[in-house]
Amino acid sequence: MQIRMYPERKGKALGNLFGLFFEDLNHAADGGLYAELLQNRDFEFDSVDRPEYTPLTGWAPVGHPKITLRTEDAPFPRNPHYVRVQGRVHMGISNLGYGEGIPAQKGRTCRLTLWARSEKSIALCAGLCGARAVIELGKDWEKHEVLLTPEYTDCAARLLLTAQSDGSFEIAFASLMPLDTWKGRKNGLRADLVEALAEMKPRFLRFPGGCLTHDGQLDPDARDGIYNWKRTLGPVENRPGRRNNWGYHQTMGIGFYEYFLLCEDLNCEPLPVVNGGLDPHHLRFAQGELLEEYIRDAVDLIEFAKGSTDTYWGGIRAEMGHPESFRLRYLAVGNEEIHQEFHENMTRFAQALRKADPEIELIGSAGPVCDGKPYEMGWEYARRQKLEYVDEHYYQAPEWFLANVDHYASYPADGPKVFLGEYASWGNRMENALAEAAYMTELQKAPAVALACYAPMFCNVHYVNWQPDMIWFDGHRVCRTVNYHVQSMFMRHQGDTDIPVETDDNRTVCEQEYRPSGRIYVLADDTDMLFDGIRLETADGTREWSKCELHGEEEMILGSLEGDFTLTLHCRRNGGKKGILIRFGWQDEDNYDQWTLGGWQNSDSGIEQRIRGRSSCLTQNNFSMQDGKEYEMTLQVKGNVITAFINGEQVHYMAVRPLVTRQLYLAGSVEEENGDVILKAVNIHAEDVSTEIEIPCESYTAETLQGAPESRNTLESPDAVVPKVTTGQGGNRVAYTFPGHSVTVLRFRGTSR
Ligand code: AHR
Repeated sequence: MQIRMYPERKGKALGNLFGLFFEDLNHAADGGLYAELLQNRDFEFDSVDRPEYTPLTGWAPVGHPKITLRTEDAPFPRNPHYVRVQGRVHMGISNLGYGEGIPAQKGRTCRLTLWARSEKSIALCAGLCGARAVIELGKDWEKHEVLLTPEYTDCAARLLLTAQSDGSFEIAFASLMPLDTWKGRKNGLRADLVEALAEMKPRFLRFPGGCLTHDGQLDPDARDGIYNWKRTLGPVENRPGRRNNWGYHQTMGIGFYEYFLLCEDLNCEPLPVVNGGLDPHHLRFAQGELLEEYIRDAVDLIEFAKGSTDTYWGGIRAEMGHPESFRLRYLAVGNEEIHQEFHENMTRFAQALRKADPEIELIGSAGPVCDGKPYEMGWEYARRQKLEYVDEHYYQAPEWFLANVDHYASYPADGPKVFLGEYASWGNRMENALAEAAYMTELQKAPAVALACYAPMFCNVHYVNWQPDMIWFDGHRVCRTVNYHVQSMFMRHQGDTDIPVETDDNRTVCEQEYRPSGRIYVLADDTDMLFDGIRLETADGTREWSKCELHGEEEMILGSLEGDFTLTLHCRRNGGKKGILIRFGWQDEDNYDQWTLGGWQNSDSGIEQRIRGRSSCLTQNNFSMQDGKEYEMTLQVKGNVITAFINGEQVHYMAVRPLVTRQLYLAGSVEEENGDVILKAVNIHAEDVSTEIEIPCESYTAETLQGAPESRNTLESPDAVVPKVTTGQGGNRVAYTFPGHSVTVLRFRGTSR
């Protein structure tokens, strides 16, 4: 194949295209990026956070002391619980750490911070893997700090706090941090995890979530209240912990100050997300003064980041140690919002935010699926409100990414730009990384796409809420997935400007046309459904069923078909939680298409495609099935077009794209600083592709990630598939063979332009 690059024909400015997204799920912060080694350090775990939690979760008695929980005369009013431990000499309590335990390493010093007291001023012994420190407690609450250097390694260690004599002691806060945190900071981050991020050279960091930002009571003071950045500041002992909607306790040890600091360290743009005055998961919508408060919080964030030290929030930033302002160019309001209320609120947020900072670039939301009415409404509002970006999210099968590689090619360059704030193909294997890389070559080229980040970032293997994830870890090990390496290669070699790349023969192959083939059946989805009539029309004729019922998760098989059909159902829900599923083209549990009616808490209708066990939502609309109401549901497939109607109203229209693959997926860019010309090439096929690249240069480096489709990295073999770097001599043209199943970045140096 002949490849020609045109460094002189500069196209789209790539700006901050490839960045990162952080959300505290999978214990990404507490028990993860946050270097705190103790779990439940302030006895604030609560059943609101997770039903089985108590204020003593993560702690165990040493011996048989009497342990009581108290709140009176607590040193930290916002975290009022403390323990009284009463018993004989050598009795006490121990902390179990996260996951399998505290990862103590021989010679790696940790700082133990204790807020404690004792009526009779007894001494306490702190022990960790052979390290011991004696702490004399006084009658009043006092902060004690001691260093503990383990004498042996134990990845499942416990911290022991035991009395040196008979008596009692009280502890309100106990923290154990290694000294070797990232940049040695006291309230620090895990250095090995930050290093993995720093290596990538991201252009921005979206934080603190995700669903984390919009699930909770509207009252931010409630234990399970909506995430509020103002409650994440100040001394960590007094930052109120909260219910993390992913089913655990969030200490807020990493708060907005720490996020901004991390962005500064990574030399990337912070991209904070604030709540838009609603909890869409529980249909709670702020109004009146409460909504004003949400808007005020968003406005105050600008002051916190950029205000001078004599402003209120700028002053707090300075007090926390950062008198200089932080960067703040982007601000997102909302996450996956599909409600009218959100879009109306957004108009007011936008007005207030622009007044506070005319330079701020605002990001609106278009829901969790990249097609359908709520998605279009998100874009429509964004255009009206003249927002700079629209946040899009989707998690799909690798086949979807390949079939939709040019998804954004037709999006206009003017008006709001695409912020692809969350995306991933389902899986951490090389086939996923290849599909994502192919997709990213087109994200680079699409004029409308401005920002994109893979999601989620981190997962502690002991606490999996969501997968795939970019980086997996336990207490002492880190695994950079193959998806991570693709992201890293695209970030480190992003370039400043896109340039055209042409080929003489980049063969495309249609691997699969869309044509449903297989069983068609109806399932109740946790409901009692009465059907007054079902009619299925296919090329072979029409079949009809009169009255029937489905309960719970019962199913009714209607037949087997190939190609076009029209299915009409008359039904009524007679109780239950959701709606019905209509499966068609069903071959086995891993391969079928589906119309979901009343999915996601009975709030939506979607057309999904499951390929090799991985589902893609092709299009989505709002819909909630109600008891007693009569419905006529019609599903029609004609060629590659799926149309669905509810009571005569069209709710879905989707032209399913065939899976067409290219021999190579290519993208070119230039880096202004050094004149390097960069070629990214993705070969998703097994066969090598030999090329001749027309690009006069002195030399080049090639960074290649290659692995069989099923290969992946694990904690046990973190380097099974890693990029390899080679160098080569330049010339007028460079002959290069792209190996099968590989992602390659060629960087041509000394190009004569
Ligand atoms: O990334 C995981 C979750 O996926 C995010 O919290 C949410 O925004 C999306 O649904």
